[in-house]
Amino acid sequence: MARILVLGGTRFLGRAVARLAVARGHEVTCAARGVSGAVPEGARLVPVDRDDPAALAALARRGFDAVVDVTRQVSYARHALAALADHVGHWSFVSTISVYADNATPGQRAADAPVLPPAPPEVDAPVGPEHRWYGECKVSIEGLVRERMGEDRSFICRAGLLVGAEDPSDRFPYWVRRLARGGEVLAPGQPTDRVQFVDVADLAAWLLHAADTRLVGTYDGTGPAMSRADLLAGVAAALNGPNAHLTWVDQDFLLAHDVREWSGERALPLWVRLPEWAGLMDRDADPALEAGLTVRPLGDTVRATASWMSAHPGDVRQGGLDPADEAAILGTWQAVRKA
Ligand SMILES: NC(=O)c1ccc[n+]([C@@H]2O[C@H](COP(=O)([O-])OP(=O)(O)OC[C@H]3O[C@@H](n4cnc5c(N)ncnc54)[C@H](OP(=O)(O)O)[C@@H]3O)[C@@H](O)[C@H]2O)c1
Repeated sequence: MARILVLGGTRFLGRAVARLAVARGHEVTCAARGVSGAVPEGARLVPVDRDDPAALAALARRGFDAVVDVTRQVSYARHALAALADHVGHWSFVSTISVYADNATPGQRAADAPVLPPAPPEVDAPVGPEHRWYGECKVSIEGLVRERMGEDRSFICRAGLLVGAEDPSDRFPYWVRRLARGGEVLAPGQPTDRVQFVDVADLAAWLLHAADTRLVGTYDGTGPAMSRADLLAGVAAALNGPNAHLTWVDQDFLLAHDVREWSGERALPLWVRLPEWAGLMDRDADPALEAGLTVRPLGDTVRATASWMSAHPGDVRQGGLDPADEAAILGTWQAVRKA
């Protein structure tokens, strides 16, 4: 049994890490305000507000075998490291593939892909709905973790798109909802376009594996890329629902009709324009797989997402293209193709 401290633990990934750690018999402490949600049963919440630089000082006395921090705020990381680094064996920092400077080139690896510069000193956290400076703040925090913990005690996990139960975004859940509804489904771009993500439970398991085995270094935390055709077929198959048939619509047509990329209103989630973003969801996952990341079958992820969505409808974010807009765009597309 290890003593594990999750800085977070009240939502999505942090909660998945805490839940799995409890299930494996570890002693789990979560430090958070507790406003995003509850910690999993069996984990202990220590209520702290990291806006207070001294918030974590009292935890130092306890000592921990491993810490997992999910923050995106530079000062939160700085204060946490100042309080805890000398009392912790291993530090996992959940970073992001948004740290990369080149989103166009497929097949890049964490070991040598160029990253953004760190956030300027006056920027402490991502700003506004666009999360401006998000990647730069994560780069800054990565640097602080390496500097304070040393390369021999720090694991930097640059997460790709997280999917699965408790997903607070409108991205993967859009496709689960849409394919469950069936009928003619607008599929964006080309069937061969690449998509890439990681099940939150798989990433949680890898973070615990990293803590157990003292894995260090910098990795992308994402599963292997697949084609969008395989993704949509896999989601439909796992739902075993009404017949859905896909109509593939060219990217230029979608952009000309104000269909938006990635997430949000009028967006087709997990779709990004090519070639500008061809590297975003086509990174080399082999180093992570070789270092212990395991990836469950897509069907398991879909079923976990779908059952969480039906059990907690109030928690599911309703974004993406609405049915009337989708039907209108499909109608125009079919008319143009017949003309
Ligand atoms: N979602 C994706 O697709 C994706 C992709 C790439 C990387 N990532 C990264 O993956 C991680 C996801 O983490 P997550 O799912 O656990 O969600 P999160 O939104 O990063 O969680 C933030 C956690 O920090 C706590 N927190 C926020 N403000 C606080 C404060 N002032 N004092 C103390 N605690 C505070 C929150 O708890 P309280 O609010 O209860 O205090 C919550 O538990 C993040 O690092 C994110 O950058 C996500």
